[in-house]
Amino acid sequence: MSAVLDNMAIIRTMCESDLDQIMPIEQKAYPYYWSRGIFGDCLRVGYCCQVMEMDGLIVGYAIMSKGVGESHLLNLCIDPGMQGQGLGRLMLDYLIEAAKRMHSEMLLLEVRPSNTAAIRLYDKTGFNTVGSRNNYYPDGEGREDALILAKTL
Ligand SMILES: CC(C)(COP(=O)(O)OP(=O)(O)OC[C@H]1O[C@@H](n2cnc3c(N)ncnc32)[C@H](O)[C@@H]1OP(=O)(O)O)[C@@H](O)C(=O)NCCC(=O)NCCS
Repeated sequence: MSAVLDNMAIIRTMCESDLDQIMPIEQKAYPYYWSRGIFGDCLRVGYCCQVMEMDGLIVGYAIMSKGVGESHLLNLCIDPGMQGQGLGRLMLDYLIEAAKRMHSEMLLLEVRPSNTAAIRLYDKTGFNTVGSRNNYYPDGEGREDALILAKTL
């Protein structure tokens, strides 16, 4: 699966060798980041793993799993140096279309209530808050709850 976006960015399927570029972005973008092993597991189980490339360099990536009737967005990340230019929105729109092609009726995700940028992106894209998970994320000495967001496809 791949798509050319505005002649500048392409989205294509992630492969194991992409992890050399992905891991430094992941570590810059999240205070509590995924390990290389988690990405490897996602690739092995066949999740929808996508990268966005510009000029041959990875600038973002996303991972989405497929369940019965619904897809679950597990990771969506744009390189901090490339954020705020519409790339996250492009990637999210692509994932929504991919989930529809997989015959999902709903796209679900978890987000930290403190992640204002992500929440605004999801809000603009038509996601609604449908619940929360207590003490879901690590947060210093304690834990932060997760909001559960959903979009009907
Ligand atoms: C969330 C994330 C993917 C957004 O990607 P991005 O490329 O910066 O976002 P875009 O430029 O496409 O912006 C799309 C919308 O998101 C919102 N947004 C993006 N950055 C924002 C910021 N710093 N503050 C507030 N809203 C913001 C805006 O509503 C924006 O639309 P607008 O510019 O028309 O107002 C990016 O910030 C990121 O990778 N963050 C770290 C990883 C992460 O937290 N992922 C989400 C996990 S649930």
